[in-house]
Amino acid sequence: MKISIKRYHATRQPPSITQSFEIEEGVTLLEALQSIKAREDATLTFRAGCRSGVCGSCAVRVNGREVLACAYKPKEGDLVEPLRNEAVVKDLVVDQKEAFATLPRARAWLQAYDEAAVVTPEEEKRTEIQSDCILCHSCYSACPVLETLPEFLGPFALTRAWRYVADPREADPKSHIDAVQHAGVWDCTLCGECTAVCPQGIDPKGDITLLRTKSAQYGYLDPNMQSFGSFGLDF
Ligand code: FES
Repeated sequence: MKISIKRYHATRQPPSITQSFEIEEGVTLLEALQSIKAREDATLTFRAGCRSGVCGSCAVRVNGREVLACAYKPKEGDLVEPLRNEAVVKDLVVDQKEAFATLPRARAWLQAYDEAAVVTPEEEKRTEIQSDCILCHSCYSACPVLETLPEFLGPFALTRAWRYVADPREADPKSHIDAVQHAGVWDCTLCGECTAVCPQGIDPKGDITLLRTKSAQYGYLDPNMQSFGSFGLDF
């Protein structure tokens, strides 16, 4: 069976090429990549850690869809590419610092600890799903808004921001809401691509919707609806 891999090397001319490789049937994509590296081309570069869907380091795109290489079984003719929306370092490895830089911008951790807060099991359930994130950046790669608006906070940071807004121990939930107004909650198109690709079943689209509701409760308005209102008044 043949698969194609998009290769990238900054100093090569051209820097980007697509190469075909013969691989064994029935293996995972990660096993296929390891076999190519061991037997055919030691320069093939990719990331991997746990080999069992836990560390999130092996995420790539196959035929335009984000997958974990250690969990995906390749099919004839698959095209394997690095994640989108982050600079490619080499072959299938991207520089993750752009996505990680969105976390402080969204204040995606506890801002003020309410020591008196009591967390019920139901409340804990509400926030534990976001804590299952394995930092694979699949949601960040799948987001089409980031392609046209690079300063968009993106689903990776927004879903975490909601996790702390919903946490009863957060004494200052408004600080998160304030932080996600610019290039944030209102710029999402709610396409749901982030939710569709998350290997952990996290729902960034749903969390962004909840952030919007909370934003409205704090007096923020959807800027798109404001211009829609003015447009209506012209008639
Ligand atoms: Fe850890 Fe794939 S190698 S999730």
